[in-house]
Amino acid sequence: MDLKTYLSTRAAEVDAALDAFLPKAKERPPTIHAAMRYSVFAGGKRLRPVLCLAAAEACGGEIPNALAPACAVELMHTYSLVHDDLPAMDDDDLRRGRPTCHKVYGEGMAVLCGDALLTEAFIVLAQTTPSPRYGTRNYVSELAETGGSRKLIGGQVMDLEGEGENLTKRGLIRIHEAKTAALLTTSLRLGAMTANATPAKLAALTCFGHALGLAFQVIDDILDVTQSTDILGKTAGKDAAVEKSTYPSILGLDASRKEAAKLTKAAMDALTPLGTKAARLREIASHLLKREY
Ligand code: IPE
Ligand code: IPE
Ligand code: MG
Ligand code: MG
Ligand code: MG
Repeated sequence: MDLKTYLSTRAAEVDAALDAFLPKAKERPPTIHAAMRYSVFAGGKRLRPVLCLAAAEACGGEIPNALAPACAVELMHTYSLVHDDLPAMDDDDLRRGRPTCHKVYGEGMAVLCGDALLTEAFIVLAQTTPSPRYGTRNYVSELAETGGSRKLIGGQVMDLEGEGENLTKRGLIRIHEAKTAALLTTSLRLGAMTANATPAKLAALTCFGHALGLAFQVIDDILDVTQSTDILGKTAGKDAAVEKSTYPSILGLDASRKEAAKLTKAAMDALTPLGTKAARLREIASHLLKREY
């Protein structure tokens, strides 16, 4: 299967599983369930769930066993976007090519929608079939730690507090590690755990996810400067507008592109212990470096 077909096939499997897991739009109270579905099915790239599934495959696992954690990471990611877009945070009107959740359903409902998506992530994750090495407790603590105040939330806190500040490259890396790389890493690790991966393989995927996640956020920041709103499906030029320190603002575009390439190379090198089984993960990493949205 070529990469394009692989990505769309896996994304379709994730979408079908999300549709089955999520409460129906008409379920009471319908507003919240419609809002949840509006945000989840707005057409994201499904990168995190695809990484989860690809990591399961790279460790010899089966796709059906990895679908619950794949959906859980996408639900956590979508919640983080709904809240990230709120007026009190990045104040964005457009997400995944559509008006943001709070634009359609109002701010109060968007707060609750994020809360519900985050909770739903754990409802879904708890349905993961345990593997010999990893039980439900391992899955739940893995995702909870990533979503908590030391990782994703902590990254968003540092990101908000960094507005208008001149951050150092080191400070910026700390934010990217927490707000972006942690969830990418956990997506890979959860997939590998469903495949009963050895601790050595989990460690390799952790290094891969860290470097890939940093590269991913560097590219997100580059695209914010270079790409159009139309192609991004979210408002371009937002970072400069609120004086966010980003790779392009600190290092310039050229050096940022080189940094993204260097991080992608480091990510690929980290996959050595997985051998040829990790070919798809390598392909995804190189695809993400060239992405245009
Ligand atoms: C956007 O993530 C937020 C970042 C961490 C940069 P994605 O670029 O994966 O967004 P979707 O899921 O495709 O909309
Ligand atoms: C958001 O980073 C990362 C999250 C954890 C939501 P950004 O604020 O750069 O994401 P976009 O550019 O709005 O997608
Ligand atoms: Mg933000
Ligand atoms: Mg934002
Ligand atoms: Mg951004």
